[in-house]
Amino acid sequence: PRILILGAPGAGKGTQSRRLAENYGIEHVTTGDALRANKHMETEYGTPAEFMDAGELVPDPVVNEIVKAAIEDAEGFVLDGYPRNESQTEYLDEITDLDVVLYLDVADDELVRRLTGRRVCEECGATYHVDFNPPEESGTCDECGGDLYQRDDDTEETARERITVYEENTQPVIDYFRDAGLLVEIDGEQTPDEVWADVEDAVDVHL
Ligand code: AP5
Ligand code: ZN
Repeated sequence: PRILILGAPGAGKGTQSRRLAENYGIEHVTTGDALRANKHMETEYGTPAEFMDAGELVPDPVVNEIVKAAIEDAEGFVLDGYPRNESQTEYLDEITDLDVVLYLDVADDELVRRLTGRRVCEECGATYHVDFNPPEESGTCDECGGDLYQRDDDTEETARERITVYEENTQPVIDYFRDAGLLVEIDGEQTPDEVWADVEDAVDVHL
């Protein structure tokens, strides 16, 4: 399947995408992770870090290129964190078709709580939350024993800026896929397992 998952920063896209990739044996294509891995790479627009640490979008040509390379040879994929504006949406439309678009709906205050409490494994990328999904041993990944860290953009100030940038840029993307008849809205404020049940149902209907 070719799946797109949309939602605000902290809505749970990464959490559900990892499960989708594992469950369906498809690629997890995430512009956020790809950019973090190349944060200090020089491009003609500057480094990704300059935009990311301010909560702003990295310029379209940089992210378009990442997505094109990642999905070119993939049989199936779940796309997480892209497209984020109308121009990226048009580009995606030119390079591939999608089977289903999932939209995780979560209120702003909850988003900020999730982002500021998030901890990520530096080895395997597993995501935890200090209150909602704590690791068994504080600071250590349950899955691989790696150290957990806090993302540079998960401060309260940058988290709020990211939510504002999302609201200004990404709402038209949701409307576009709703009009195209591909959008399935999911209540993202349920527990991760409850959200997953809805995600799996939505994908299975479209396979
Ligand atoms: P990116 O890495 O894509 O970040 P994001 O969209 O802000 O999304 P997040 O990763 O913060 O959240 P998520 O929805 O994946 O939530 P998660 O599952 O981790 O982008 C970062 C930056 O890169 C951007 O600001 C931009 O600069 C740049 N960038 C990326 N893509 C770009 C693009 N296309 N164009 C331009 N620039 C781009 O969950 C969050 C927390 O909540 C975790 O702690 C988790 O454990 C917890 N949680 C998850 N689900 C639940 C639940 N159901 N209940 C309770 N807690 C939960
Ligand atoms: Zn780990």
